[in-house]
Amino acid sequence: MLADIITIFPEYFGALGVSLIGKAAARGDIEFRVHDLRRWAPDVHHTVDDSPFGGGPGMVMKPEPWGAALDEVVPPASARASRQQSGAPRLVVPTPSGVPFTQRMAAGYAASGHLVFACGRYEGIDARVVADARTRMPVDEVSIGDYVLAGGEVAVLVMLEAVCRLLPGVLGNECSAGDDSFGGAAGDGGMAGLLEGPSYTRPRSWRGRSVPEVLVSGDHGAIARWRRDEALRRTAANRPDLLAGAAGGLDGRDREVLAEAGFPFHSEDMAH
Ligand code: 6GU
Repeated sequence: MLADIITIFPEYFGALGVSLIGKAAARGDIEFRVHDLRRWAPDVHHTVDDSPFGGGPGMVMKPEPWGAALDEVVPPASARASRQQSGAPRLVVPTPSGVPFTQRMAAGYAASGHLVFACGRYEGIDARVVADARTRMPVDEVSIGDYVLAGGEVAVLVMLEAVCRLLPGVLGNECSAGDDSFGGAAGDGGMAGLLEGPSYTRPRSWRGRSVPEVLVSGDHGAIARWRRDEALRRTAANRPDLLAGAAGGLDGRDREVLAEAGFPFHSEDMAH
């Protein structure tokens, strides 16, 4: 996979050389190209922002540097084919007003050959940049959660970490992605749609706390059932919204565990 990142703060992306992502890049499973947007700002001060039409606080990123950057980073389809680039590019624009980033989207991105991330700062990028880009390529405006960051750089690091660990050959244990919270497919017998429960390792007893007996029983059926019980309890406690539409996928034991956990909750418990 090829990931182009356009930003006024290339320094943020030093983190891509570290740990799992760094190893994936060293192996060539993913190539990162980090571009400084100011390269495409022609004036002597390399200006990339200006005050908003209609008034209001803050600054807006000017369209011209973005247009020139995207034209160069994403050349016309004909030119791309001859350069053997990796598939049709998708533009990802991090913004708190985008669609929520999900594990499903991460899996889709991991299967795409070429992603281009456009990191906005200030009050965002002039809206014509996305409108213009949409005439040439698929564009996703994506949010990583209900809070406001100062810019898209950290959001892109978050998305790339979620994507890279799903690339073929990147995760050491090929099975573990399917057991992740939010991972797995409906009906695959895994923990589809549930949060992951607790994990333990040696020693069996630590500060007076023992590892749950079932995990050392060798009874794989009992272990799987216990893990599902714990996943249901944690999901009911931390993310009851994930269980709201799950009724069809729950067996009798599931319902028993959830009833013990006090699910379904009364509406006043859901207020926050
Ligand atoms: Cl993707 N960008 C910014 N600037 N703030 C955010 C965000 C993205 N997602 C949540 N807050």
